[in-house]
Amino acid sequence: MKPNIFVTRMLPEPSMTKLKTYFNVTINPDDRVLDKHEIIEAIPNQDALLCLLTDTIDNTVIDAGKKLKVISNYAVGFNNIDIKTATARHIPVCITPGILTNATADLTWALILAIARRVVESDKFTREGLFNGWAPNLFLGGDVTGKTLGIVGMGRIGQAVAKRAMGFEMKVVYTSRTDKKISNAQFVSLNELLEVSDFVSLHTPLTSETKHLIDTDQFHRMKKTAYLINTTRGPVVNELALLDALKTNIIAGAGLDVYEKEPLITPGLLALDNVVLLPHIGSATVETRTKMAILAAENAIAILQGQKPHAIANPEVLT
Ligand code: DGY
Repeated sequence: MKPNIFVTRMLPEPSMTKLKTYFNVTINPDDRVLDKHEIIEAIPNQDALLCLLTDTIDNTVIDAGKKLKVISNYAVGFNNIDIKTATARHIPVCITPGILTNATADLTWALILAIARRVVESDKFTREGLFNGWAPNLFLGGDVTGKTLGIVGMGRIGQAVAKRAMGFEMKVVYTSRTDKKISNAQFVSLNELLEVSDFVSLHTPLTSETKHLIDTDQFHRMKKTAYLINTTRGPVVNELALLDALKTNIIAGAGLDVYEKEPLITPGLLALDNVVLLPHIGSATVETRTKMAILAAENAIAILQGQKPHAIANPEVLT
């Protein structure tokens, strides 16, 4: 008899076909986020759960999954899952790192260029028929080439962002949880990074230590001409403090792909021109999302077959 898996939302092929060769698959039939209670109802008879970063997999969900042997998250981040409860139940929590590094680094660069060169504002202006000819002061932005890029969190994505900065002849400074040496980049304290950077780009995972890592004090340390870029997780930034910093020109601008109370966005941000707002699309390329789905499927299958998954957030459960 095949084991059962519950998939909280339809994922790109061929991952679904792959899952069906090994599991009895139940999929949320609607293309929407399930609320926690719907997952609780669906899960009691499932051996595996394939979920998304938009699903809240807290202790009540994990407790309802009495037969659960694996939680496979379709994401590299796993702050949506109560990892402590899963670990206490010896349930592996698998993730999809590596595969989305380049797509997310590319999007980080899209935000850097878009905010510094006022791409979104200029596009809107042009579409509105307001372009009456070249003008010396039309949409003056900030230079990117030769500036200093501060990377907070030098994991895979931070390093890929730094690599791209070389093409822009930038100086790169960074902070990191681990004492890693990165060529062409200088390790500094967070305070120093905030003080010297023209662009501060966030790549640290969301944990209890990094929640509101960037708050009012940190904005005041930044240059008035600096930009904040966030493609990691919204709660790393205090969004109200960011709104205030943008409104009062404490910093020059921001490029955001993620939000503190996603999908809600602090309303004042929508009215500002000095912020570019994207709907959490860091990994959203056809190639990347397809590979992520395959990896998530393979992770779930590997655990049920007693093999090592590609990546696991709580490796201690395998020992
Ligand atoms: C992740 O995998 O954590 C990303 O945010 C999804 O794009």
